[in-house]
Amino acid sequence: MSILKIATLGEPVLRQRARELSTDELASARWQGFIDDLIETMRDADGAGIAAPQVFTPVRVAVIEVKGNNPRYPYKPPIPLTVLVNPTLTPIGDERFDNYEGCLSVPDLRGVVQRHARVRVQYLDRQGQPHDVEVKGVSAGTFQHECDHLDGRVFVDGVGDPTTFSTWKNWERHHKAAFVERITKVVERYGS
Ligand code: NI
Repeated sequence: MSILKIATLGEPVLRQRARELSTDELASARWQGFIDDLIETMRDADGAGIAAPQVFTPVRVAVIEVKGNNPRYPYKPPIPLTVLVNPTLTPIGDERFDNYEGCLSVPDLRGVVQRHARVRVQYLDRQGQPHDVEVKGVSAGTFQHECDHLDGRVFVDGVGDPTTFSTWKNWERHHKAAFVERITKVVERYGS
């Protein structure tokens, strides 16, 4: 396994629509090895998720994992390791919440993005098995963030109020306390 180089904002690969992976490709050693590398890269960078375009590979694959003690996102509820292949994401209902997001491709910047509070996610796992799940709350925000990458979108596109942009240090200093208070209510409401 190896740790892959992460593309940062301005790289054209982050702005294109990624292509579907065929089930034959998915079963191959090459793409199984790529998924292993993507997981290792996410864990090495303490990311809550990473999408294939972020490592210069524009295919519709993303991985998500939140452990209880993520230093970048200590307030996030845990999400077990999930490999999304060719996912489609559909909002359920109209409920939304404000999420303070960051991204491995946007170093040292966070900003508030409005996200759907409930989404349906249909995807293949790394064995090619189909899944159809509902994801709620803060975890739903994480799935939306990663699926956006597959369509060339980055969280900065969705920041409605540019005055919320903050370096990580200033976020810790000036914004974290109020956000954690707000997001804790979201976690309590949706259970995730
Ligand atoms: Ni990202």
